[in-house]
Amino acid sequence: MTGDLNSPGSPRARKIIVAIDGPAGAGKSTIARHLARHFGLLNLETGAMYRAFALKALRAEIPLSDSAALVRLAQETAIRLEPGDAENRVLLDGEDVTGLIRNQTVTDAASKVSVFPPIRTWMVRLQQELGADGGVVMEGRDIGTVVFPHADAKIFLDAAPEVRGMRRFDQLPSGHAHQPEDVIRDLHERDQRDRNRADSPLRPAPDAVLLDSTHMTLDQAVKAAEDIVSERLAAHAR
Ligand code: DC
Repeated sequence: MTGDLNSPGSPRARKIIVAIDGPAGAGKSTIARHLARHFGLLNLETGAMYRAFALKALRAEIPLSDSAALVRLAQETAIRLEPGDAENRVLLDGEDVTGLIRNQTVTDAASKVSVFPPIRTWMVRLQQELGADGGVVMEGRDIGTVVFPHADAKIFLDAAPEVRGMRRFDQLPSGHAHQPEDVIRDLHERDQRDRNRADSPLRPAPDAVLLDSTHMTLDQAVKAAEDIVSERLAAHAR
């Protein structure tokens, strides 16, 4: 089925958009990376943009509940996302912050700054510009619902909270001092915030295909995601 996508006039030729949404720890980044390689697309991680802005707010010591100050900060911030093979390179006002945005402090802060509508409007516009030419897998929380509601294929990737928490725990660098319960609790708090915010809360688009990876290995989840995208693209091409 994948081969069909190379023919002229096929979804691939007109530069498809694949949207992957879901909660933290569901495996979105890994699956998006595989899909990008498999279908010859660019992989764009929108969470990295919220993370970069959160880093700037932390550095400026702006309270993460002060929406007016955050909006002022956003007005003087430039964020660029450059797709790479392994992960995206994130530039904050020209500084490469890729290695600085994955720690727990920035993770929590990203979830907090992302609740404010003007911040989301700004980010969504940037993301729409990035994906405007198509040929992308875009991963986040609101891609299929807000950023690209007309995406060619949409996957909502989920897994049981304990499983997601343990996956995150297993990814922590060696020598860390965290307990599994703490990681699961942090993830739960972030889930609550991402799902319950008033503006574009995390939820599946009506036409998203739900993929629950709770009982799947990574290989199985990747294969299932590839099948979903291939099927969707074949259906669009008919
Ligand atoms: O995907 P991630 O863990 O890197 O995302 C970090 C935070 O950014 C997440 O808790 C919520 C926010 N986010 C968002 O609100 N919308 C997106 N499209 C991507 C991320």
